[in-house]
Amino acid sequence: MGISGNSKSAAALWLVTVSLLLASVAAVRTYGKSFEEQARIEMPTERVEDASNPSDEAAKGTRWAVLIAGSRGYGNYRHQADICHAYQILRKNGVAEENIVVFMYNDIADNYENPRPGQIINSPMGSDVYHGVPKDYTGTNVNVNNLFAAILGDKSAITGGSGKVVDSGPDDHIFIYYSDHGGPGVLGMPSPPNLYAPDLISTLQKKYDLGTYKKMVIYLEACESGSIFEGILPEGLNIYVTTASNAEESSWGYYCPGMIPSPPEEFYTCLGDLYSVAWMEDSEIKNLKRETLKDQYEIVKKRTSNHDTYRTGSHVMEYGDVKNHIDHLALYLGFDPSNENVTFPAIPDNNLNAVLSSVGVQQRDADMLHLWHKFSRAAEGSARKMEAGKELLDTMALRVHIDESVKMIGEVLFGAERGSAILEHVVAPGQALVDDWDCLKAMVRAFESRCGFLTQYGMKHTRAFANMCNAGVGVLRFSEAAAEVCATTSGVWQPLSSGFSA
Ligand SMILES: *[C@@H]1O[C@H](CO)[C@@H](O)[C@H](O)[C@H]1NC(C)=O
Repeated sequence: MGISGNSKSAAALWLVTVSLLLASVAAVRTYGKSFEEQARIEMPTERVEDASNPSDEAAKGTRWAVLIAGSRGYGNYRHQADICHAYQILRKNGVAEENIVVFMYNDIADNYENPRPGQIINSPMGSDVYHGVPKDYTGTNVNVNNLFAAILGDKSAITGGSGKVVDSGPDDHIFIYYSDHGGPGVLGMPSPPNLYAPDLISTLQKKYDLGTYKKMVIYLEACESGSIFEGILPEGLNIYVTTASNAEESSWGYYCPGMIPSPPEEFYTCLGDLYSVAWMEDSEIKNLKRETLKDQYEIVKKRTSNHDTYRTGSHVMEYGDVKNHIDHLALYLGFDPSNENVTFPAIPDNNLNAVLSSVGVQQRDADMLHLWHKFSRAAEGSARKMEAGKELLDTMALRVHIDESVKMIGEVLFGAERGSAILEHVVAPGQALVDDWDCLKAMVRAFESRCGFLTQYGMKHTRAFANMCNAGVGVLRFSEAAAEVCATTSGVWQPLSSGFSA
C-alpha cells in the first residue's frame, strides 16, 4: 500500500495521539485514590414481592438468547470474549444450549497472536470462557441476513451455520446481547454489510407481529449505541433496552494494556468492554431472582460512568418499554442456584477499588492501543517488528484518509466555513439521527465506491452523512463531491487484510 507524503505526516500526528493516549492511561492511575475516597456503594432495594414473579412467569415459557460479536481480528479480542462470557453465564444459569444462538467470527482462540491457544478470557484473573461455546454462526456466516433470520425464527432464510434460530412461542422471553464497534445509526458486522438501526427495529416489529415472544431485553455495547434506538424504537413492543453509550459518544474497552487491573503481561489487547464487563460481573455475583433489570441498569450505569464522574466512560441509557425494568433478571438470564442466598451489597471491596482506580480506553482507540503494544513489544530488528510497524502506520494512514475525505467532502458541499459545523451537528435528544435512512445508506455506499471502505473506525462518520441527508444533499451531488475529493487519494485507501469490517 502506498502512503502519500501528506498521509505520512498526518500518520505522525496519529503516533503522537497514541503516545498521549498511553501517557494518559499512566497518568490517570495516580488519581485512583481520590476516586476511592468518593466511593459509595449504592444498595439496590430488595424487591421480593414484585409485579413479576420470575418463577411463575418464566415457568410457562422458555428463555432464549441471541449473542452477537460484530467484529473480527485479534485487536478486537474483547468483543468475542464478551460474547463467550455471556454464554457461560447463561449456561450456568440454566438456559439450555439449544436456546442460545451464538454469532462470533471465531478467529480469536486459535489466532497466532493469542498467548493462550484454544482459550479466551474476559478479565485478567478470569478463567477460559471459550470452552463449550457453540459455533452456530462463524466466519462469513456472521452477517445481518442470518442474524435477522435467527431472531425471527425463520430457518428457511438462513444460509450456512448450524441453522439454530429463536424458535420461540408467545410465552417466551428473549435476551439479545451484542458487542462491537458502531457509529451513529449503525452497528458493525465482521462481514459486510453493516447493520442499520431501522432494519433492526423493523425486524423487532416483525417479531412482535408474529406474536412469538412475551417480553424481550436487549443489551447493546457499541459506540453511539443509543442512536440505534433513540427516536426510532416505539414503545409497546414489550422490549426493554439498555445501551453502553448515548447517541453521541464512544463506548469503552476495558482490561486494556496499561490499565489497572491490567491483562496478564503476555496479552497486548483489551480483554473486555466496560459496559459489558459491568453487567456480566454483576450478574455472576447476584441473586438474579431478587435483582431487577432496573437495579442492574443503575449498577452498570455507575460503573460505566466511572462512578458518575464521566471522567472516562459513557452514559448507559434505557429505551423501549422502560416500565418492564421492574422484572427480575432471572426472567431473562436464568438463575444460578449457588447465588440463592446472596444478599446486597455483593460487590466485594477489592473489586470496587479496582474499578475506581482504573480507566477504560475508547473503543476506537483500543485498536490503536493493541497495534502500538504489538509494535513496541516486538524484538528490535525482527520481521515481526517491521510488520507491526507497517500495520500501525497503514492503520493511521487509513484513518487520516477517511477523516480528511469526509471533511473535504463537507467543504466541497457547504464551503470551508460551514462544512464542519454541519457535519458535526448532533440532533436533539429523543430525535432520530436521520429523516431518510435510505439516503444515509446510499451515501455510505457512494462514499465506499469513491473513497474506499468506511471501516469500523470510519463508522463514526455516519453522523456526517446523516447530516448531509438532513440538509437535503442528494446522493448524486454527494457522490460527485466524493469523486472529486477522492480521485487523487485512491491507492491510499485499500483496506488492510485483517481487523476491519466494511
Ligand atoms: C441457602 O440457605 C438455605 C437455608 O439456610 C439452605 O438450605 C441452602 O442450602 C442455602 N443455599 C446455598 C446455595 O448455600
